Amino acid sequence: MTQTDDRTATGLAFPAGFRWGVATASYQIEGAASEDGRTPSIWDTFARTPGRVHLGQTGDVACDHYHRYADDVALMRDLGVGTYRFSVAWPRIKPDGTGPVNTRGLDFYDRLVDALLNAGIDPMATLYHWDLPQILEDRGGWTNRDVAYHFADYASAVYARLGDRVRTWTTLNEPWCSSFLGYSSADHAPGRTDPGAAFLAVHHLLLGHGLAAHELRAAGAQEVSVTVNLSPVTPRDAADQHDVAAAQLVDGLHNRIFLDPILRGRYPADMLELVARFAGLGHISDGDDAVIAAPIDFLGVNYYAPTHVAAKVGAPATAKFPGSEGVIFPDQPLPVTGMGWPIEADGLRRLLVRLAADYPSTPLLITENGASFPDFADNGRVADDDRIDYLRTHLIAAHQAIQEGVDLRGYLAWSLMDNFEWAYGYEKRFGLVHVDYATQERLPKDSALWFREVIARNAV
Ligand code: FCB
Repeated sequence: MTQTDDRTATGLAFPAGFRWGVATASYQIEGAASEDGRTPSIWDTFARTPGRVHLGQTGDVACDHYHRYADDVALMRDLGVGTYRFSVAWPRIKPDGTGPVNTRGLDFYDRLVDALLNAGIDPMATLYHWDLPQILEDRGGWTNRDVAYHFADYASAVYARLGDRVRTWTTLNEPWCSSFLGYSSADHAPGRTDPGAAFLAVHHLLLGHGLAAHELRAAGAQEVSVTVNLSPVTPRDAADQHDVAAAQLVDGLHNRIFLDPILRGRYPADMLELVARFAGLGHISDGDDAVIAAPIDFLGVNYYAPTHVAAKVGAPATAKFPGSEGVIFPDQPLPVTGMGWPIEADGLRRLLVRLAADYPSTPLLITENGASFPDFADNGRVADDDRIDYLRTHLIAAHQAIQEGVDLRGYLAWSLMDNFEWAYGYEKRFGLVHVDYATQERLPKDSALWFREVIARNAV
C-alpha cells in the first residue's frame, strides 16, 4: 500500500482512495433529547446525576444537530470530506430498548443519510456510541447477556432502513470506555464501580459486536467494522522486568482484551485469568469465541495518547484498570492537550505498526484522532495552531506507518465541531468548527481550513 497519489507536488501524499473525513456521536451533538419518541439513555440519566458532569451540563440541546443537520452537512461539503462517521441513538430507534421500532427515530437518520449522499459524502454509521437505552440499564445493562442480543436486533432494524444507502457499518465505539469507565471507574455512564461488572460488560459488548456483525453481513452490508480506542503502552524501564510486566498488564486491559477475541478468536491467557478473578467464567458460553471473531472488513482505530507505566510495590489498583495493583502511571515528559493528555504522534505510528504485525491482514482506518485546546473566537476567527500541529504531526506519523507497510485506509478527525465532551461537558472543545452554544453559530477554525487543504491535496 505504498502507492501514492501525486495530485500534489509537495508534501507527503497518501495512497489513492485514502478516505478523509470527520466523526461525531449522537449524544454529543444531536440534542432533541425527548423529541419524536426518543427515551432516555444512560447518558441522560448520568448527566442529570449531581456531580457526574462538569457544571451539571447535559446533551439535551448539545449542538442542536437534530434540527440543524442540513447546515452541518453543508459545512462538511465545504470542508471537502469524503466520509462522515456518525452514530445512531439506540433510544430513538427502539425506545423500549427492544421490541417495536420507532419510525420517527429512523426518519431522522434517513434524512441525514440522504443529505450526505446529496452532498457527495459517504455515510459511515456507528451503531453504539454509548447511549444505551436507560430501560436496558435498569435490567443490568451490559452486564446482562440479553443486551447483546437486543443490540443485534436493533442493529438489524437500523440496517433494514438505511442499508440500501449506507455501505459502511461500525458496531461499537470504544468498548473499553463502555465497560471499564462505565462499570468500574464510574467516569462514564452508567457510573458503576464494580470491576466484576466491567468484565461482564466487556464480554457482552464483544458478543453484541459479533452478533450484530453477523446480522449486518447476512443482511448484505458491504463493510462491517468495529472501533476500539487503543494506546501503545511503554514500560518506564524496558530493562526492568517489573515495569515490563506492568506494561504487559495494562496493554492487556487496554488493547488485547478486545483485539484478541475479535481478531484471533480468543481472550489472551493473562486476561482470561483476570476475568476469572473478578467475574468468574460462568458468563462465557461455548461458541461465544466464534461469534465474537466474526470477520470484519477493517478495524477502526481511535488514537489520542500513549500510556507509560511503571511498577511500584504497594500501589493501589487504578479503577479503570482492574487488577492493576502495583502499577503506576508516571507523568511523561511530553506536552499535553487541553485534556491533559500527553502528545506523542509517534505513538500512533508505533500503534499502527504493531497492529499490522500482531494482527496481519486486517486493514486499519483511523476513526478518531484529534485534540482539545482552549480555543476562543476572536473577530470571527479561531486561530488554533496547536490543533493544526497536533493533526499534522499525527498525519505525518500515519503516513510513515503506511511507508512501513501498514494497510491504513483512511483518517477521520475528531471532531467535526465542538460538542458535549462527556463528563467534561462543553468545557472541552475538540471541533474543527467552533460552536457558540448561546447562538448555535458554527465557525470553521483555522484547523478546518487547513484540513480542507490536506483533503484537497490528499497530502500533508
Ligand atoms: C473518544 C470518544 C469520543 C470523544 C473523544 C474525545 O474517546 O469516542 O466520543 O469524546 O474521545
